[in-house]
Amino acid sequence: MQFLTVLTTLLALGGSVLASPTPQNDNLHRRQKIITGVNGISAPTGGETISTTSNFTFTYKPFDYCFEDFSAVSIWLVPGPNAPTASSLNATQGFSQYLVAYGEWLYDDDGVYVLAPGPPPPSFSVPELDPSYVGSTVYVAVVEIVDGCPPESTPEYILSSVGVVYAG
Ligand SMILES: *[C@@H]1O[C@H](CO)[C@@H](O)[C@H](O)[C@H]1NC(C)=O
Ligand SMILES: *[C@@H]1O[C@H](CO)[C@@H](O)[C@H](O)[C@H]1NC(C)=O
Repeated sequence: MQFLTVLTTLLALGGSVLASPTPQNDNLHRRQKIITGVNGISAPTGGETISTTSNFTFTYKPFDYCFEDFSAVSIWLVPGPNAPTASSLNATQGFSQYLVAYGEWLYDDDGVYVLAPGPPPPSFSVPELDPSYVGSTVYVAVVEIVDGCPPESTPEYILSSVGVVYAG
């Protein structure tokens, strides 16, 4: 009886340690799988010039490798000179440093339902950036969430990016 009480207390303590926010975020970050070295972005293309005077065409094909019904993505413009890597993402898979957040979108992988907010628009505008970026490479980046791939229960993330030149 006493042993059970101790065990229960220990389990309760263990549970509350796991539930405390700071260490859990760290553990989560380490455990989360971020796939890089692939690219689902077909527009814009590498080296393309983007400017404040017109929208750039955006096309992305979700990897959808667990045959989910929907693929969630977030779209960003992030600074160069180097392409973003897994460590450019923070604990919630956002970019700690970014120039533009183009929002979160939801592709319908089966072509049956459209669920809000729906897929991204076919093009995005470019806001005026700091003049120091004129003529330099910035990256259009996409983080796709792959949810529920068996046997993993935690989501996986796929990071794609394309380097473009900001013309001002
Ligand atoms: C991650 O980055 C995004 C965008 O900068 C931000 O909104 C979010 O709060 C950040 N998450 C954490 C845990 O810092
Ligand atoms: C340019 O992109 C924005 C989204 O960034 C969109 O709201 C707007 O309709 C687009 N404009 C054109 C002319 O396609």
